[in-house]
Amino acid sequence: MNAPDAHLLHDVAAEQFPDGFVWGAATSAFQIEGAARDDGKGASIWDRFCRVPGAIADASTGDVACDHVHRLDEDLDLIAALGVNAYRFSVSWPRVQPGGRGGWNERGLAFYDRLVDGLLARGVQPYLTLNHWDLPLELQDAGGWASRATVYRFVDYAVGVTARLGDRVSAITTHNEPWVIATLGHETGEFAPGERNRQVAMQVAHHLLLSHGLALQAMRDAGCPARLGIILNLAPVVPAGSSEEDAALARLEDGRLVRWYMDPLFGRGYPADVWAHLGADVPRVHEGDLAAIAAPMDYLGVNYYSRVVVGAGSGPDQLRAGSAFTEMGWEVYPAGLTELLVRLQRDYPVPPIIVTENGAAFADEMVDGRVRDPARTSYLARHIQAIADALVLGAPVVGYMVWSLIDNFEWTRGYTKRFGLVHVDYATQRRTLKDSGRWYRDFLARCRALAQPTARAGSERGQ
Ligand code: FCB
Repeated sequence: MNAPDAHLLHDVAAEQFPDGFVWGAATSAFQIEGAARDDGKGASIWDRFCRVPGAIADASTGDVACDHVHRLDEDLDLIAALGVNAYRFSVSWPRVQPGGRGGWNERGLAFYDRLVDGLLARGVQPYLTLNHWDLPLELQDAGGWASRATVYRFVDYAVGVTARLGDRVSAITTHNEPWVIATLGHETGEFAPGERNRQVAMQVAHHLLLSHGLALQAMRDAGCPARLGIILNLAPVVPAGSSEEDAALARLEDGRLVRWYMDPLFGRGYPADVWAHLGADVPRVHEGDLAAIAAPMDYLGVNYYSRVVVGAGSGPDQLRAGSAFTEMGWEVYPAGLTELLVRLQRDYPVPPIIVTENGAAFADEMVDGRVRDPARTSYLARHIQAIADALVLGAPVVGYMVWSLIDNFEWTRGYTKRFGLVHVDYATQRRTLKDSGRWYRDFLARCRALAQPTARAGSERGQ
């Protein structure tokens, strides 16, 4: 359902953002690359999960996806034409190290060389994510993230990728959204690898955090010049109703979604209330783990789509009665991004923050070669404005990236949900810039024009 017209906002003043602000678009390997068995690539947990009957809405796989590996040059040109100054992608671990340990796959590494060099040649800063969920299947069969051994495999992988690409990328992210891997992958079982065990999920969360900290240290020790950090999916968590019960539920959910990750990353250990709530399901933590997790970060990535509303009652809550929702069923709530960024700054000694994902799925229609998607444009404009509001309130935000550059494989929703600035016709792999993509391109052009010294001096004089 598209947002009602009253919610639409199609413009943002570029003057609100400082020169040097990072403007990007994001993707991940499994969701766009395809070439699933080409050139010595190994399988990942998502390759297997896609074959579980009923796991993926349209029974699809990532075998072809956007065929990005074979269309790299075309996609690099799309990125350049958009005018972003940064592009966030992930390395497929099984493409570069098929079994997750030992031997490296030269042809896989060569693909990322071409990607990184192609970005640099077009004046776009590469932002590399090491783990966007596609763990090598062989490591899953050896215990996956529940096994402490995987922590050390990840550190080796991080150092290996860094040795090859670290001199040319602007930033390296260890993990994308550890909450999703732990909770959806191991507690609810909705995502790969499909486990349903809370104790395992909490152990996985701990191992992800530990591997992040150890990898940061190892990459630094190896002399990696790129900025290093992690990406968390965070949101304000609010009670649906005014009961004590709802307030307690919201506090716990905030603990599990936000504080379970933020507290140890900033040296405070795990939050006591969540630890007590978990009882026998708490993770095993070795001496020294918490110090390793708190390794200083150069930036924090935050993915934001909507707020989280929790309550004991069933049925629709009053809170969201007047809200618009995206095709994912996610409430459009830009004020939550401002609230979140201000809260992170208030509660933690945060480094510079980059909003590394934000975007919306809507039911796009291609008519006469054009995709008119005003609801997506409005969603993006309102969230970019929410960042400008957070800047005024002192939040240290230095960048924003749209999810996603291009329509892609949306995990359990398969190809049924489209988040792209660029439309993909999956039958022909034809790419078409949507109206929202044109809007973002024009907005970025205004930002660039302002960055010219004379232009900004002029606008400050009100000319
Ligand atoms: C995030 C994921 C990203 C994409 C968006 C819609 O949780 O990081 O891959 O699927 O949601």
